[in-house]
Formats: sequence, structure tokens, C-alpha cells
Amino acid sequence: MDENQRIVLAAKPHGLPRESDFALVRGPVPQPGPGEVLVRCLWLSVDPYMRGLIDAVYPYVKPILVGDTMFGGAVGRVAVSNDPAFAVGELVEGYLGWQLYAVARASELRRIDPQWGPPSTALGVLGMPGMTAYFGMTEIGEPQAGQTVVVSAAAGAVGSAAGQIAKIRGCRVVGIAGSAEKVRHVVDDLGFDACIDYRTEPDLAGALRRCCPDRIHVYFDNVGGTTYDAVMTWLALDARIVICGQISQYNDREAEVGPRRLKEFEMWRARQQGFRVLDYRPRYGEGIAEMARWLAQGRMRYRETVAQGLENSAGAFIGMLQGRNIGKQLVQLAQDAAMNH
Ligand SMILES: NC(=O)c1ccc[n+]([C@@H]2O[C@H](COP(=O)([O-])OP(=O)(O)OC[C@H]3O[C@@H](n4cnc5c(N)ncnc54)[C@H](OP(=O)(O)O)[C@@H]3O)[C@@H](O)[C@H]2O)c1
Repeated sequence: MDENQRIVLAAKPHGLPRESDFALVRGPVPQPGPGEVLVRCLWLSVDPYMRGLIDAVYPYVKPILVGDTMFGGAVGRVAVSNDPAFAVGELVEGYLGWQLYAVARASELRRIDPQWGPPSTALGVLGMPGMTAYFGMTEIGEPQAGQTVVVSAAAGAVGSAAGQIAKIRGCRVVGIAGSAEKVRHVVDDLGFDACIDYRTEPDLAGALRRCCPDRIHVYFDNVGGTTYDAVMTWLALDARIVICGQISQYNDREAEVGPRRLKEFEMWRARQQGFRVLDYRPRYGEGIAEMARWLAQGRMRYRETVAQGLENSAGAFIGMLQGRNIGKQLVQLAQDAAMNH
């Protein structure tokens, strides 16, 4: 068995992280103890929440400190199993970190059914981002047929799925995304009714008025900031605002102003609610089964942006924070066919 390689946080970033904030460390492959499993990682997920972990924003989750292996979801194959729950060679998903080999307790791993989709989808449309879209849209957004739904970061992992779920529910769906290529993808490939490029549109509130003649019944907010402000000017009666993420602020050095636009809430009897997808982890089976059915029916589509090699993980993470990804940003660590376990 070869050496392990992992990416550690080398320095605490201020603002947008730089490649020099991360370092590749080599060492021996860890050995699993009783009840533990050694996983050879194949796919790594880089996600916006990791920026928050570095800044210790989640009071109930261990932050990533300088010297720590970067935390993150990964998919791999069981290389050694000291627990009867998993056999060598099985595909699993878990929070295994940015590394080639990881030891995990069997209870921390989720078995992947390869019939539902390629293994990488367990980190995207059939994994945490897909479940964020599914439970956030269906349980918090509660879109009704004929209503208008707006989704920001619409070409990203969560937004692309959230908008398609609202389409399946019979809504008019308008995306907001950050390039002409993303706008084209969201409308032509994903089937949204319209999409606005917030980076080039000088009057986002005006564009929303044009795209949403019946006003906005559900806003699935992935970005916060001035995009949120523009949406608030055009709420429909009983509007629901799903606070999924606020990525426009994750690299800010100072706290954003707010809350804003509360008069609109009073006028339109609006409701705003945040949620964390991990609260739904016990129900992932239900959400994955529904999403897999939609995938099989061709009603749910997904895109992946793939970086190659552990050494490119930091670059992929920084690029995702800047919007270079379309769909789910992944890092491929190894070819599955090359596995020799
Ligand atoms: N509540 C939860 O449990 C939960 C779980 C997962 C994810 N989330 C949140 O969901 C959101 C999307 O996550 P994801 O994993 O699907 O990432 P993603 O959308 O695939 O990638 C992030 C995207 O954010 C956009 N972005 C970056 N900076 C921005 C800015 N200043 N203003 C507006 N947009 C910006 C970029 O797209 P553009 O080119 O369009 O700008 C980028 O592609 C994030 O806010 C994340 O924190 C929440």
C-alpha cells in the first residue's frame, strides 16, 4: 500500500483563501482499529461551508485549525474493514477529509448504491447538496404549482437541483447566476423559465420584475447580500424565503449589515427560515430515492466540474468560491479502475 497524502490548512486565510494557505503533507497510510474501516478515497467534495469551518462560524461543529487536515465529504472504496457492516471493495461516502486514505468508524459511513448513479453523484445531486435542495425547497420553500420561484447561485450544485425541483412541482422558475454560460446552461439544459446574469445586469430588481410578472412566491437564497435585497423588492403575498446560504459574505472580513427590508415582510406577510441539511441526514434515504427516480426519468439533470488530483483541491475550492464551477465542484483523486484492493 502506498503512502497517504493529505491537504492541511497551513495558514488562516483573511478574505478569499490563497493556494499558500494550504499544504500537502505525506505520511504513512493510517491503520484501522476495531470497528473501523480504511477507505481509499476516489472523489472529494469542496464546498462553501468549509470556508465557514475555517472561520469557526458554526458553534456546534469543530472548526478547521491551522495544521488540521481539511474537513470534507468524500467517496471511496473500502480497502480494509474491521467491521462486519462493510466488505472490502464496497463504495462508501463519509466526511473523510482531503486525503487519499482515511480511517472512519463504520457508523460514520454511508453505503452507496451504484445503481442510482455514478459514485461521484453521492457528493452532488444524490448527496449533501442534492439533499439541501430537496429538503430546503420541498419542506421550507413549499412551492405550489403555478407560483413563481427564484433561485440564486442557480448554476451551482444546490441551486441547479433546487430550481429543477420547483419545476417538477409545476412552478415558474427564474434563476440568478454569474455568467452568460451559466445563464445558457440554466435555461437550455436545466429547463428554468429564465435566468438573470447578476454580474452584468445593471438593474437586478428591474430584471426580476420583467421575469416574474406574478411577483416572487418563493426565494431560495444561496447568496444573500444585494441579490437578496433585489428579490425583497418584488415579493408576492405569503412569500417564503429559504435561507440556504449567504456565499456573497463568506470571505468578508467584517460582518454584513442587516437584517434588511423587513417592511416588505410586513406588507407581504412573508416568512423567512433558515435550515441546516445535516438535520435531515436521517431522512437522506427518502430524498435520495426521490432524486434518483427523477434522474432516471430524465426530469433532473446535473453537471460536474472536476479538478484532477489531490494537489489541485485548494485551487478547486478557491475557484468554487469565485464562481468558476458549473454544477458540483469535485476533485477526482484516483481512477476507480486502477484500484488494486
Ligand atoms: N443550509 C445548508 O445546510 C447548506 C448546505 C449546502 C450548501 N449550502 C449553501 O448553498 C449555497 C450553494 O452551495 P453549493 O455547494 O451549491 O455551491 P455552488 O453553488 O456549486 O458554488 C458556489 C457558487 O456561489 C456563487 N457565488 C460565489 N460568490 C458569490 C457572490 N459574491 N455573489 C453571488 N454568488 C456567488 C458562484 O456562482 P455565480 O457564478 O453564479 O456567482 C459559485 O459557483 C452556499 O451558500 C452554501 O453555503 C447550505
